[in-house]
Amino acid sequence: MSSRSEEAFVAALRDVVGPPHVLTEPDVVAGYVCDWTGRWTGRTTAVVRPGSVEEVQEVVRLCHRARKGVVPQGGNTGLVGGSVPHGGEVVLSLRRLDRVGPIDPAWPSVTVGAGVTLGALQEHARGAGLRYGVDLASRDSATIGGTIATNAGGTHVVSDGDTRRQVLGLEVVLADGTRLSRLDRMPKESLGPDPYQLMIGSEGTLGVITAAQVRLLPADGGRQMVILLGLQTLGEGLGFLGPDVRAFEFFDRACMEAVIDHRGLPRPFPVEPPFYLLIESDGTPSIPEDALAVVDRSLWAYRESITETINGLGVPIKLDVAVPLDRVDDFAGAVTDLDLDGDTYLFGHLAEGNFHVNIVGNRDPEGAVDRVLELVLGLGGVIASEHGIGVVKADWWRRTTEPALLEFQRRAKDALDPDGIMNPPVLWGG
Ligand code: FAD
Ligand code: MLT
Ligand code: ZN
Repeated sequence: MSSRSEEAFVAALRDVVGPPHVLTEPDVVAGYVCDWTGRWTGRTTAVVRPGSVEEVQEVVRLCHRARKGVVPQGGNTGLVGGSVPHGGEVVLSLRRLDRVGPIDPAWPSVTVGAGVTLGALQEHARGAGLRYGVDLASRDSATIGGTIATNAGGTHVVSDGDTRRQVLGLEVVLADGTRLSRLDRMPKESLGPDPYQLMIGSEGTLGVITAAQVRLLPADGGRQMVILLGLQTLGEGLGFLGPDVRAFEFFDRACMEAVIDHRGLPRPFPVEPPFYLLIESDGTPSIPEDALAVVDRSLWAYRESITETINGLGVPIKLDVAVPLDRVDDFAGAVTDLDLDGDTYLFGHLAEGNFHVNIVGNRDPEGAVDRVLELVLGLGGVIASEHGIGVVKADWWRRTTEPALLEFQRRAKDALDPDGIMNPPVLWGG
């Protein structure tokens, strides 16, 4: 785009959403072009903040006509480099779509704008004696749109399922500005091929989610027991998995030491086991008398401080993977044996075989990513568990996805976004 046509393009964006909602000044856009970890900083023609679905449609139409890339953005807490522009794309910030609808008590559900944060939705549900099934430590910034676009997991997948399980309907804007909506409808309807399902986990590459109807669950009333256990092996921890478990989170000694240093939290045990397991449970799990164990709700602070603590130590390489449950100890041992340059931290959602492998101070990020992902595949695991593919795993995803599936996904992309304007760097970019 020549600088004159770029100016005209930005002026047209201002006409649609109003001048205060088109941001171009470098210091103002800085928080939108840099990801949460500080690993990726891009540039943008403009950050656009529409206030309605009609404005989203108009902005997308303008981008479509100009063949301009669009990066939908919610809370910008994504951890795979997918929420920031990499080559001058327009950042479409959905945060102003923050309307929270009334709760339907009969079939407990609520319709909310894509920009509503997870925390605001949870609070709204709590007020009606209900809860939303997804929870993440980023709850005060992560949005409903972003969590659906990444099919976020979090701490309650073991009991409530991932984000896909919560979504009853969506409103979306496609790459040509077309609006599709299935909100506040009958709970059961045969739609034929379901375009809304395709949007979940599509990471902004197929369209923009502007609103969602999500199911709500009965509130738990804070009756759960929270237990922290010290473990010699992760396999030992799996013995505590049962139907009452609501959360099943592990972390290693390196995480515990870093969190104690960073947060000034007390040491939970007189000894330092290699692994810790935090269990939230509806019942009382049977814990052997000689186990290292302590019970208290405040123990969540150890687990929930890990991501922020690691970020404070340097720009981390963050890998989110999963391996079969009978391989968790093999994986934990083998990652340590890789002897990656830098400091390695392991934590994650053990019930799903999920590992967050974080490395700080590594001088060869691509090499580290390759070595860890090769290991995961060798153990029959998956290279992307809950954060998405983004840009960090795009190349690996294209090389390792089953060809028939990749071909289906390519056809879906070509059909819905033939000019490739929707989040170009993600999945198919590079
Ligand atoms: P963004 O970061 O803004 O965007 C993420 C992706 O979704 C991008 O590709 C973007 O283009 C796309 N997108 C955003 N909004 C829309 C929309 N309305 N329409 C279409 N596409 C859109 N993730 C987990 O899964 N489990 C965890 O336990 C977890 N814990 C976290 C803890 C911390 C402290 C942090 C910082 C992050 C954590 N995350 C976790 C990662 C992150 O919070 C999730 O990926 C979350 O779903 C991102 O939501 P967001 O609104 O910030 O999306
Ligand atoms: C978590 O489980 O804490 C998140 O997915 C965030 C992270 O991986 O850092
Ligand atoms: Zn996680």
